[in-house]
This record gives sequence, C-alpha cells and structure tokens, in this order.
Amino acid sequence: MQKAVVARVGDYQVRRCERDDVQAVININMETLPEHYSDYFYYEILAEFPETFLVAEFDGAIIGYVMCRIEYGFSHLRRLGLARKGHVVSVAVKEQHRGKGVGTLLMNASQEAMVEKAATESYLEVRVTNAEAIALYQRLGYIVASRLEAYYKDGEAALVMAAKIGQ
Ligand SMILES: CC(C)(COP(=O)(O)OP(=O)(O)OC[C@H]1O[C@@H](n2cnc3c(N)ncnc32)[C@H](O)[C@@H]1OP(=O)(O)O)[C@@H](O)C(=O)NCCC(=O)NCCS
Repeated sequence: MQKAVVARVGDYQVRRCERDDVQAVININMETLPEHYSDYFYYEILAEFPETFLVAEFDGAIIGYVMCRIEYGFSHLRRLGLARKGHVVSVAVKEQHRGKGVGTLLMNASQEAMVEKAATESYLEVRVTNAEAIALYQRLGYIVASRLEAYYKDGEAALVMAAKIGQ
C-alpha cells in the first residue's frame, strides 16, 4: 500500500513513522545525538502518539525523524495557566542530508499534527551549545522559555524553547 506523504521538499518526503521504521529511527538517533533511549521508549511513543511521530525519506531510505508527545500541563508561554502542549522529544536529520530544509519540514509537519491534536503550544529542550538547532527553532518562532541547569547527563544545561501553534 502507498504510504501517505504529509509534506515534501525537493526529493524528500515526510510521512508518519510505522513500526518497521523504528529501527532506522534508532540508528539515526545513535549516530546524531548523545541522548539515547530504550527501544521500548520509541515503540511506546509510536503506539501512543502515532500522529506526531514522523520520518523523512530520501530514495526509499529514512534519513530523519521527529518524535513528539502530546501533554497537558503548565504553559511555557503564559505565566499562569495550563495548556495542551506538543513536546518535541527528539528530532534529527542524517548529517549528509542537512541544510536542505528537511529539519524545517519535519518540525512544521509535526506542529500541524500537534494542532490537529488540539495542542496550542509546542516546546522542546535543547543543549545550550547546539547553535544549529537553536537557530532553526528561532526561525520557526520558538522563544527561550527557561533554562535547566545540568539537565543532561554530562552536566550541560538545556534551554526550554516554546512556540504558540495554531490559529
Ligand atoms: C537540527 C537539525 C535537525 C536541523 O536539520 P536540517 O535538515 O539541517 O534543517 P534545515 O535544513 O531545515 O535548516 C538548517 C539550515 O539549512 C538552511 N536551509 C534550509 N533549507 C535549505 C535549502 N533548501 N537549501 C539550502 N539550505 C537550506 C536553513 O536556512 C538553515 O540554516 P541556518 O540554521 O543557518 O539558518 C540537524 O542539524 C540535526 O539533525 N542535528 C543533530 C541532531 C540535533 O541536534 N537535534 C536537535 C536536538 S534538540
């Protein structure tokens, strides 16, 4: 069966992740990021939030992914109040495919899926030294909501970045 493409840029296509894609996603995570998760974690997120777990394909191979959860809790954008939030748990593009708009496409497509799940804001954590990712998020309208000292195992701090989504 033809897999439903949700977005495209050049020869890159973004579609929902399927169970058979998870190993490729884990491999990309292993080669691109220092934060790894158990295999179970990926399958669990896919089972619970299939709409916001997307992969990017090039020439039949998976070269990027974005994995998000929908949560309910304190807003990162308003001083008081609760919000339904899309949480970008992890996003990555294989090195040789970067700078071609795939990261932007994955982020935009996941944001649209979050809005369909009634989320009004999106947020994520990013290493304070990850200039490339921070620049991408800023371009997409994310602002720094807070800073979490020693958030990562190696002691590095994280920025919590958030953006209003929908209407
Ligand atoms: C962060 C990351 C996902 C961005 O992915 P990407 O596919 O390179 O993102 P994009 O191509 O959309 O944007 C990156 C740059 O390419 C430029 N670009 C976008 N489309 C382009 C195109 N068609 N042609 C040329 N350049 C383009 C963008 O302007 C951007 O440049 P800038 O950052 O200097 O403004 C990627 O760098 C990555 O996987 N990093 C390692 C994992 C990681 O750190 N993840 C984030 C954890 S919080």
